[in-house]
Amino acid sequence: MSQNAARELKSNNAVLYLPDGQSIELPVITGSENEKAIDIGKLRSQTGHITMDPGYGNTGSCQSEITFLDGEKGILRYRGIPIEQLAAKATFVETAYLIIYGHLPNQKELELFRYNLNHHAMLHEDMKHFFASFSGQAHPMAILSAMVASLSGYYGEESGMDDPDMNAARLISKIRTLAAFSYKKSIGQPFIYPQDSLSYCANFLRMMFAVPTRDYEPDPVVVDALNLLLILHADHEQNCSTATVRTVASSHASLYASVAAGILALWGPLHGGANQKVIEMLERIRMDGGNIKKFVDMAKDKDSGFRLMGFGHRVYKNFDPRATVIKNACDKVLDKLGIEDPILDLAKQLEDVALSDDYFVERKLYPNVDFYSGIIYRAIGIPVNMFTVMFALGRLPGWIGQWRELMEDPGHRITRPRQIYQGQTAVDYIPIEKRA
Ligand code: ACO
Repeated sequence: MSQNAARELKSNNAVLYLPDGQSIELPVITGSENEKAIDIGKLRSQTGHITMDPGYGNTGSCQSEITFLDGEKGILRYRGIPIEQLAAKATFVETAYLIIYGHLPNQKELELFRYNLNHHAMLHEDMKHFFASFSGQAHPMAILSAMVASLSGYYGEESGMDDPDMNAARLISKIRTLAAFSYKKSIGQPFIYPQDSLSYCANFLRMMFAVPTRDYEPDPVVVDALNLLLILHADHEQNCSTATVRTVASSHASLYASVAAGILALWGPLHGGANQKVIEMLERIRMDGGNIKKFVDMAKDKDSGFRLMGFGHRVYKNFDPRATVIKNACDKVLDKLGIEDPILDLAKQLEDVALSDDYFVERKLYPNVDFYSGIIYRAIGIPVNMFTVMFALGRLPGWIGQWRELMEDPGHRITRPRQIYQGQTAVDYIPIEKRA
């Protein structure tokens, strides 16, 4: 770069000098919380170089107004509101509205939103037959993603019912019915239909646990615990499943297709599937005699293939504020329900041992949202293989909000990363008779 050019450099631009002598001035984007990004949009066209960032730990894929988090300080806010306040005061339904539409609903908006949720709670009767086709061993996440994708067959563009607001309400409402029906199918009980008079969480619990032969009254402690867990999971900016939803949406796939893909991304044990794996791990430790040190040592041994599930996070390097809220709630919920779960004691001991161990301290590995959530789900009667489905129910407003944000951004482009090819350079085709 010449001296003149350097002098003309805009004060907020960065300059990249390349080994081949080229240089390029790159704009710096500043977020509303003073986060900084270097805009490399012209890098390849002007220099022939791309950036390399496997796992995208240093890559911003979009500018978003939905969720802010600061992993160093342990801050999480939806549309500016701290997660601690929402957890203490909000309902899941108003949190969903907040995330999708950008503000807390007033009374009229909330009533309309609730009306739409009630109105769309039932499934098309034909869809009930789909459940019969899954094997008894099918994981509920496989069923959920298939059923959500199937919704496009009933409410997609082709059906003339492709209204974004209606689809958002349909999906939030129907996913709850789909989740409860898949559980009922797995235990061979009749489906219980939704009931308009109940709150979102109470309605779900009734569809899960009521049977036609008995009255069912959801326990308010359980309703509140579920409400809390769903709020805490409602959005988490560009995590693996949300990035998947945005990637699929960038090809202009429907909301249903994009969310179905998000559900599948969430399923993995390194992401939402960790909540199931945490309980399985704690059970394993308990069955093995409760020797926590043995498992902590195993997690430190790279050859063991074992990790402490529910520990570590790509962005939280101090503490996960959701985990703090859930840990406090855990004691209260179990206490109110009169449940003593030896797994909770084990979890606390494991946390203490890990947090005073140099390996975990040096790597800034703390309990994440999934470490204690499974203990509450277990206490309120949710079966272990449904834990990740519960995560999906909670995360849905985030996926919908992010889908809408992308679709409404006139500047969005189809997601299409590049690569550095490290394979065979050009060779000729060899006829089969001449191959070694
Ligand atoms: N147990 C033991 N060691 C761990 C753990 C763990 N749970 N997590 C990370 N480490 C170690 C890694 O081995 C690595 O060590 P090294 O530097 O000596 O090689 C270091 O800590 C950094 O780990 P990475 O895997 O590079 O971190 P990354 O940001 O890629 O992964 C992840 C984050 C996937 C969450 C990871 O911490 C993990 O596997 N945790 C367990 C699964 C889990 O709880 N997932 C839920 C996350 S929250 C959510 O998605 C809702």
